[in-house]
Amino acid sequence: MAQLLLAVVSSLSLLSPRTAAAATSTASGGKPLVTAITRDAATKLYTAPLKDALPLVLDLSGPLLWSTCAAAHPSYECHHAACAHAHAHHPPGCPRTGHGVPDEDDPFRCRCRAHPYNPFARRAGSGDLTRARVTANATDGANPLAEVSFTAVAACAPRTLLAGLPAGSVGVAGLARSKLALPAQVASKQKVARRFALCLPGAGNGLGVAIFGGGPLFLLPPGRPDVTASLAGTTPLRGNARVPGYFISAKGIAVNQAQVQVPQLGPLAVALCSRIPYTVLRPDVYVPFIRAFDLAMAGRKRETPPTPPFELCYDSRELGSTRLGYAVPQVDLMLESGATWTVFGGNSMVQVSDDTACFAFLEMKEEKQEGGHGYGDAAAAPVPAVVIGGFQMENNLLVFDQEKGQLGFSGLLFGRQTTCSNFNFTLAD
Ligand SMILES: *[C@@H]1O[C@H](CO)[C@@H](O)[C@H](O)[C@H]1NC(C)=O
Ligand SMILES: *[C@@H]1O[C@H](CO)[C@@H](O)[C@H](O)[C@H]1NC(C)=O
Repeated sequence: MAQLLLAVVSSLSLLSPRTAAAATSTASGGKPLVTAITRDAATKLYTAPLKDALPLVLDLSGPLLWSTCAAAHPSYECHHAACAHAHAHHPPGCPRTGHGVPDEDDPFRCRCRAHPYNPFARRAGSGDLTRARVTANATDGANPLAEVSFTAVAACAPRTLLAGLPAGSVGVAGLARSKLALPAQVASKQKVARRFALCLPGAGNGLGVAIFGGGPLFLLPPGRPDVTASLAGTTPLRGNARVPGYFISAKGIAVNQAQVQVPQLGPLAVALCSRIPYTVLRPDVYVPFIRAFDLAMAGRKRETPPTPPFELCYDSRELGSTRLGYAVPQVDLMLESGATWTVFGGNSMVQVSDDTACFAFLEMKEEKQEGGHGYGDAAAAPVPAVVIGGFQMENNLLVFDQEKGQLGFSGLLFGRQTTCSNFNFTLAD
């Protein structure tokens, strides 16, 4: 008991009066929050200005919020429930320390140390579990209404853990299915649904948009229906509690509406991952898939050698354009629910130079299979057959609904004559 009391007192003394006050301020309640999304050209990662207007990298597979901290910052004590949540998902190869045991150098102190993970540099660090101020705008789905700040649980990270992140970003906002990821923290602070809509912008398109708390979401031009209420399809979210990322299940993949024959019988696990720029497929699926696309493209002029890392590149002047991008065979992901996620040219062909566009799917590398895409605890997770990367999600609205346990998707928004960069970020008048 005495020890517990000491622990509480010592953790309180680390809270400055200013931050302690912030912990009980602003949240207005009830309204979803909107944030702008920037695509970083150099890293092809997506950021949002969530921490004191400074960007955090959005990570669909990340279980925590983390960023660098000021030297003086509040910290949680090591028996706090938040500390247990922070330790629910350990980065690969990371020691299980920092929860429930006194500090090594001071037996009377017990600060919660968390282990934030940088998936881009594939490195973990240690830092205090602290409180950070998250700021975004409340929204009616059409415009930002007013800024809202709340205090979130976040891990401090050493500055060196920022390696590989876009210039200027100060950490990572995990969006996964865990108690300390951003969607769950917004849901409890704002009293909104555990649901978020993600609309990643394409290269050179301007800002994308995310709404935490669900819809509605209206994109310009004015007068269009709520995109979250007119989805092309939904499918159940799959996965297990030990792996916090998002998984869906597919019955097969088709190219030009012919199913690709893969050796694996039964469903294919598909992960969604904003950490990688292009979709990767397990070698046993990739080889027949790319062969099928090559065959379906018969007659089109291949460029040899192709531009690495891609395998199929074409003279883009000869491809022909449609509203949905280059006129190439469509790729269908036939989902468990019966819905089909169709990938058109706008999400399958990447322009690598003025005259060259490449088929933007890559073969999964062996090393990447260990937690690199954020299935976290590699041992706990089957290796997905497909990991959908950023490029294939761009200009598609995705609704991650943890309450219904389902993923909703709009299909390529070009088909509705809009894009993810058409949210009206002007404050409502
Ligand atoms: C809120 O919206 C206004 C208007 O678009 C914008 O200037 C401001 O940066 C937004 N605040 C945050 C925290 O995103
Ligand atoms: C964007 O929203 C503002 C504020 O409601 C409005 O005045 C403006 O007309 C909207 N822009 C467009 C293009 O609809």
